[in-house]
Amino acid sequence: MAYICFNNHENSHSAHTMLSKKIEAALNGQVAVEAASSQAYLAMASWAENQGLSGTATFLYKHSDEERMHMLKLVKFINERGGKAVIPALKQPGTNFKSITDIFQALLHHETKVTQEINGVVDTCLKEKDYTTHNFMQWYVGEQIEEEALARTLIDKLNLIGSDKGGLYLFDRDLQGMSVATGGGYNRGA
Ligand code: FEO
Repeated sequence: MAYICFNNHENSHSAHTMLSKKIEAALNGQVAVEAASSQAYLAMASWAENQGLSGTATFLYKHSDEERMHMLKLVKFINERGGKAVIPALKQPGTNFKSITDIFQALLHHETKVTQEINGVVDTCLKEKDYTTHNFMQWYVGEQIEEEALARTLIDKLNLIGSDKGGLYLFDRDLQGMSVATGGGYNRGA
């Protein structure tokens, strides 16, 4: 349960809600999820780079950076709210990919799991009546919609391209200038 600590009961209008232990643990769980995402996409980026897919590599390196930013945002929020952020150890991510389609299917699968984790944190916020953290988590809820939609769009494109090398070349080139944040515009210029 979130609790409120007042600096001065008599005349203070500024109260800050501190994190409950349950919320702190849920947020630290999410720190680990975002860190693992960043590491997973870094492995994918490196694989793509070694395949000569430089646009895809650029996109995935950026994606990895964005996941690290998602993690940092949580770390800072936890600490600002009087909790203690835990920086987790990382497991070695998968590195054996069969194809570029395999990469994006793995990415979508991963993001679907991330969405479930985020929904779990949101659920804990409601149970704990921590509306401040609930509000903070809405940014992540929105981000997941974007990321899943983009991954599905890219998989659809790859399925259309099939084994056409020219199509794959154009796909890779298109990814060069794209990041997850701008991914919503993928279809506009095509
Ligand atoms: Fe930060 Fe892709 O979830």
